[in-house]
Amino acid sequence: MAAVGSAVGLGNIWRFPYICGKYGGGAFLLVFLLFVFFIGMMLMMCEFVIGRRSRHATVQAYSTLAPHKRGWRMVGVLGIVTCFFILAQYWVISGWTLSYFFDAITGRLAQMGQDTEAIKDYFSTFSTSAARPVVCLAIFAVLTAVVILAGVQRGIEKVSKLLMPLLVVLLLVMCVRSLTLPGATKGLEYLFYPDFSKLTAEGVLAALGQALFSLSVGMGAMIVYGSYIPADSNLFRSSMWITASDTFIAILSGVAIFPAVFSCGLEPTGGAGLSFCVLPNVFNSMGTLAGIFFASIFFLLLAIAALTSAISILETLSAFLIDSGRLKRSSATVLVVCAEVMLAAVVSLGGGMWSHIHIAGQNFFNFTDRLNSIYLPPLCALGTVLFLGWVVPSNDVYDELSNHGTVKATFYPLFRFIIRYVAPLALIIIFVSTFFS
Ligand code: PFF
Repeated sequence: MAAVGSAVGLGNIWRFPYICGKYGGGAFLLVFLLFVFFIGMMLMMCEFVIGRRSRHATVQAYSTLAPHKRGWRMVGVLGIVTCFFILAQYWVISGWTLSYFFDAITGRLAQMGQDTEAIKDYFSTFSTSAARPVVCLAIFAVLTAVVILAGVQRGIEKVSKLLMPLLVVLLLVMCVRSLTLPGATKGLEYLFYPDFSKLTAEGVLAALGQALFSLSVGMGAMIVYGSYIPADSNLFRSSMWITASDTFIAILSGVAIFPAVFSCGLEPTGGAGLSFCVLPNVFNSMGTLAGIFFASIFFLLLAIAALTSAISILETLSAFLIDSGRLKRSSATVLVVCAEVMLAAVVSLGGGMWSHIHIAGQNFFNFTDRLNSIYLPPLCALGTVLFLGWVVPSNDVYDELSNHGTVKATFYPLFRFIIRYVAPLALIIIFVSTFFS
C-alpha cells in the first residue's frame, strides 16, 4: 500500500490524462501499458531485489551487493541527488495544492465564478509571490516529516493504509459527478479514442518517461521500500499489483477530469494549468455549493496523492543518512527536511521573485523541472538495470525473485532479457533523444 502511495501522485492526476489525450488516446494507452508492464514494472522488480537482497538503503545497497565494484554505488548517489531535486519541486507544487484546498473550502475560489482570466491571474499572482507558496510548502514539509518521524510501521504504513482507500473513494465521487454531466462522452472520446495519427515519436518517448515517473522508479525510492519487504513476499506479484493499481488510478483520474472539462466547453491542458486554472472554472460552473464541495474534494485528493509520494522520497533520503550509521531517524529527518525546505524555497522563488536569475538559460524552477524530467531519472534507471542485469550474479537475482526457490519464477528468462537488453536500449534512446531535442 505504501508503494502504491508512492506511485500514485501528481503524475497520475495532472500529467497522465493530458498526455494520453494529446498523443492519441487509446493508441497512447496501448504503448503506455506496454512500457509500464514491460519496462517500468521490471525496473520496480530490480529495485525491490536490490533493496530486499541487501536490506540496505539506496547507496549502501549497491556497495553491499557488489563489495568489490564500489564504483556502482555512484548509481545510488545519483538516486539520492535525484530524490533531493524531485522532492524540492514536489513540495512546491504540493504547497500549491494545500493553498488551493484552503481557498476551495473557504469559498475563495468559488467567488471567482467562471471568469477564466481572473482565475488565471489569481494563479500566476499566487505562484509567483514570495511568502504564501513558501509558507505552504513548509507546512507540507512538516506534514511529510511527521509521518517519517513516526517510523516505517507506525508512520508510513499506517498513513498509507488510511489515505490510499480514501483517495480512491474521493476519486470515484469525482468520476460519478464528471460522467453524469451533459456532454461527458466527448471527454471520454478524448481520453480513449485510439487515434494512431497523433501517436508521434515524441508521444512514444513521453509514454516511456511517464511510465518511469509514475511508478516512482529510477531514483532508488523502491530500493528503500524493497528493503522493508518481508522475506516471504512474492516480489513479482507485489510489483504487478502496484503497477496495476497505479495505472488504474491514472485512468480513473482521466475519467474524473476530462468529461467535466469538455462538458464546460473548456480546452484540455496538463500540469499546473489543468489543476489550478481550468478545473476551478469547471467546479465553479457546478453552482456555488457544489463547486465548493467538488473543488475541496479535488484539492484534498491532490494533496493526499502528493503526500504519500513525498513520504517515499523523504524516506529514501532519511534512510540513506540513517543507514550510514551516524544518525538516528529523528536527527536524519530533521537535517534532510531543513536542507530540503531551503532548496524548495529557492525553487519556488526561482519561478517568481528570482526568475531573472538564470542557470543554463533558465530560471531555477524550470531548470529543476528539466533536471527532474529529462536528465536524472533515466540516467539513474539505466544504472539500476545495468547493475542488476550485468553486475549482480544471475543466481542471486533468481534466488531473490523465487524466495530461495520456494515460489515459481517462470517469468525470470523474460525479466533477465529485458533488464539486460531491452530496458537499457530504451533508456539510452529516451535519454539521447530528449537531450538533443
Ligand atoms: N510517482 C509519483 C507521481 O506519479 O507523481 C512521483 C514520484 C514519487 C517519483 C516518488 C519518484 C518517487 F521516488
